Amino acid sequence: MALADKDRIFTNLYGYQPWNLPAAQARGDWDNTKALLERGQDAIIDEIKASGLRGRGGAGFPTGLKWSFMPKESKDGRPSFLVINADESEPGSCKDREIIRHDPHKLLEGALVAGFAMRARAAYIYIRGEYIREAETLFAARDEAYAAGLLGKNACGSGYDFDVFVHRGAGAYICGEETAMIESIEGKKGQPRLKPPFPAGAGLYGCPTTVNNVESIAVAPTIMRRGAAWFSSFGRENNKGTKLFQISGHVNKPCVVEEEMSIPFSELIEKHCGGIRGGKDNLLAVIPGGSSVPLVPADQIWDAPMDFDGLRAVGSGLGTAAVIVMDKSTDIVRAISRLSYFYKHESCGQCTPCREGTGWMWRVMERLRTGDAELEEIDMLFQVTKQVEGHTICALGDAAAWPIQGLIRHFRPEIERRIAANVREAAE
Ligand SMILES: Cc1cc2nc3c(=O)[nH]c(=O)nc-3n(C[C@H](O)[C@H](O)[C@H](O)COP(=O)(O)O)c2cc1C
Ligand code: SF4
Repeated sequence: MALADKDRIFTNLYGYQPWNLPAAQARGDWDNTKALLERGQDAIIDEIKASGLRGRGGAGFPTGLKWSFMPKESKDGRPSFLVINADESEPGSCKDREIIRHDPHKLLEGALVAGFAMRARAAYIYIRGEYIREAETLFAARDEAYAAGLLGKNACGSGYDFDVFVHRGAGAYICGEETAMIESIEGKKGQPRLKPPFPAGAGLYGCPTTVNNVESIAVAPTIMRRGAAWFSSFGRENNKGTKLFQISGHVNKPCVVEEEMSIPFSELIEKHCGGIRGGKDNLLAVIPGGSSVPLVPADQIWDAPMDFDGLRAVGSGLGTAAVIVMDKSTDIVRAISRLSYFYKHESCGQCTPCREGTGWMWRVMERLRTGDAELEEIDMLFQVTKQVEGHTICALGDAAAWPIQGLIRHFRPEIERRIAANVREAAE
């Protein structure tokens, strides 16, 4: 069964209607937001906890729990902040962009509801530098919300003052990491901070801060209106709710679609993407959660539930639910080598295993691609990925290691075939 239209949160995902305030209000956004806030901070956090919402930015941390880490009162006068992560630079991810360009008021209302629940003074939306048109829409939507009294002083007539700032990035993947984002907003180089302290203790400008993904925030008002029980009626235990899936690559109809969490891969592809190009038997492998999660070969992905646990069970992850489909025409070693180049390029260079390791891994990957390598180097590369993984300040090191590990785990014979072919060629 597929998600019914009446249960969709993002009713203007494809931009069939205008994004502006009157159209958003006709769709139900900003509908008596004051009443939502009157339920009180703790009640909002409890509802989000009960809904089972887990962060949509990749790591899947429970959203309500994260909000509850914020201080209930400021003992030293420091304000609290909400930072909304719209950096969306993970290859394959393209959902936050759709929310911002077609449904920006869902995000802005979510910012107020979430920010109020966390007792934040303001929200900073950090938007990827390349999203120029999207940023224009967001600025304009924010101006509309201010003009209508929905944001700013006495937001929605609630007596609560709440500001929203939109901050444009300059196109660096690393600024999607939460503490690098905070540094960048502060005007510094976007390099991740060592934790602790965690942002909830000392984040933006040294103040308590929570960083959340666009989708995590944009779904909050609907959860409050329709209730935690409604949201948690979708998906399996521990994997609740509806989710924006972004399917790209070798399907007949790539798309972004809101679906029930835990939908089997086969159903997602057949129902929404017109099937695999050339048919099911032509599927080679899938990267199910954006470029940083390991690939899954065709036979293991077909029946897998598309959720956090289902994809962990096949050695990968849901990530941002950016599903990259590769058919048998794909040069899989080249594809993963290209991702290695991306991570090498985006490493911020602070820690040695990442700075040196990403370049080293890419250079070996390139030689494996052409077969110009020794067989032992396959194991050596695997070991190096293990030395990078878990030994860096931020998860970019892991993100660089995992795709290579997935390749070696599942496509070792293909790598060996290339090396053997290259040796044969040299001998002839
Ligand atoms: C290198 C790197 C890049 C990231 N890029 C993004 C991003 O573009 N968008 C995002 O929401 N989270 C990104 N994250 C995850 C954030 O650090 C953070 O976990 C997330 O924004 C939390 O939001 P959530 O709890 O709502 O998922 C990235 C993490 C790393 C390590
Ligand atoms: S892991 Fe890489 S990107 Fe992350 S802080 Fe270290 S050098 Fe920078």
